[in-house]
Amino acid sequence: MTAKRPAATATATIATIVKAVAATGTAAQSVMGVVVGTWRKVGTVDDVSDDTPLSVVVGDVEVGIYRVNAKLYAIEDVCPHQYALLTQGFVEGVNVECALHGAVFDITTGRCLKEPGGRDLRTYAVRENDGDIEILVE
Ligand code: FES
Repeated sequence: MTAKRPAATATATIATIVKAVAATGTAAQSVMGVVVGTWRKVGTVDDVSDDTPLSVVVGDVEVGIYRVNAKLYAIEDVCPHQYALLTQGFVEGVNVECALHGAVFDITTGRCLKEPGGRDLRTYAVRENDGDIEILVE
């Protein structure tokens, strides 16, 4: 007789493995054929302060890294309205205002709070690792 594992338990186990690998890995990760991503160093913790975000390019993607209430956040750096780097905008609390036409985005969620942003921003997993800032890219 073969014991059957409930589907919910198997799903939870895979999710736990993927999360654990993503949290600890530094190279390309693959779990059961699913590519999780790669943690890439993009700077050091000294490169970002509450009022000075960091702009980085990872592959073809421009990412803005912010520190809000002692926590790091990574969001698309290019305003979806037209081409402007949001890291050159105005940071106020958890929001960043585009310097070109005034669109406002929530740094912690990427949500567009004021037009003409047009859409929400993509967010990226970011972490501090022994003084370095790393983001998870696919
Ligand atoms: S380019 Fe950002 S609001 Fe226009």
